[in-house]
Amino acid sequence: MDFPFSGTGVMTQSNIVEFRSVTKTYNFGRPDAFTAIQQVSFTVEDLRDHGEFISILGPSGSGKSTILRLLAGLDPQHPPTSGTVLVAGRPVTGPGADRGMVFQDYTSFDHRTVLDNVAFGLECRGVSKSERYAKAREWIARVGLDVQADAVKYPHELSGGMRQRVAIARTLILHPRIILMDEPFGALDPHNRYQMQDLLVSLWRHVQATVFFVTHSVEEAVYLGDRVFVLSRSPGTLLHQIAVPPPDRPAAEMQRDPAFQQKVFEIRDILEQLETSPRGSGNPAGFERS
Ligand SMILES: Nc1ncnc2c1ncn2[C@@H]1O[C@H](COP(=O)(O)OP(=O)(O)O)[C@@H](O)[C@H]1O
Ligand SMILES: [Mg+2]
Repeated sequence: MDFPFSGTGVMTQSNIVEFRSVTKTYNFGRPDAFTAIQQVSFTVEDLRDHGEFISILGPSGSGKSTILRLLAGLDPQHPPTSGTVLVAGRPVTGPGADRGMVFQDYTSFDHRTVLDNVAFGLECRGVSKSERYAKAREWIARVGLDVQADAVKYPHELSGGMRQRVAIARTLILHPRIILMDEPFGALDPHNRYQMQDLLVSLWRHVQATVFFVTHSVEEAVYLGDRVFVLSRSPGTLLHQIAVPPPDRPAAEMQRDPAFQQKVFEIRDILEQLETSPRGSGNPAGFERS
């Protein structure tokens, strides 16, 4: 969505995403007001040929989904109560084609085949039938589904892993610059989960988008991420931004590596302390290099 922005000096074109002291209080001004995130600030640089992969961890209720939906421009998270959410230097004013979202629960249309689900976004854009089906078949293959056998199936005929492949294809076919994923693999068994992690790494390299990925799995966050954000308990503040090595091997292999596991233990310790420490304690966000 375009926002007419004619500002001069304050524009930060070099950041693809920026949160400037963002606070979200639900039901603001009412007796049931609840502050979900508080003064969250971070930047994600707009790097040429490399979208950064940001994993987000935090206790449940710490505002992970709130952050993602603020970025997506979705109500009632959008707009923030105070602070500014910027995408490519412009304040977010609502949903836009530059941002695509994949949720944990399968968001495909039950009455549409896989082919028509994957082609849906292009259909909305008025792309011709032959062109959108050709593109949809490409993406069905790219997410590891069978173009012949699976394209004609309906969502209820697919396993959980296959449905998430459809959800990913539906989003990526539109080439968003930013991909927002809210616990997308949370419902999958470990074997499927590794496979989906490997798939996501290869697709991410292909599309070069910036990814925000919420997960409860520390392993998944460390494996996939360039940076791991750790949120405090509610109201969520950004406690840590931890740089981690990029995935350089298949998920099942790299996650057995002792150096990898060491990193996981460190972050798990931080999270366990958060779960047991008194409410609201913690340090301001530091940027740690590993
Ligand atoms: N629409 C809403 N109205 C009121 N409170 C909400 C709303 N959405 C979320 N919350 C509350 O805000 C807090 C953060 O929610 P959420 O961002 O979903 O956390 P997480 O994804 O980390 O579990 C939770 O305590 C939740 O109950
Ligand atoms: Mg959530």
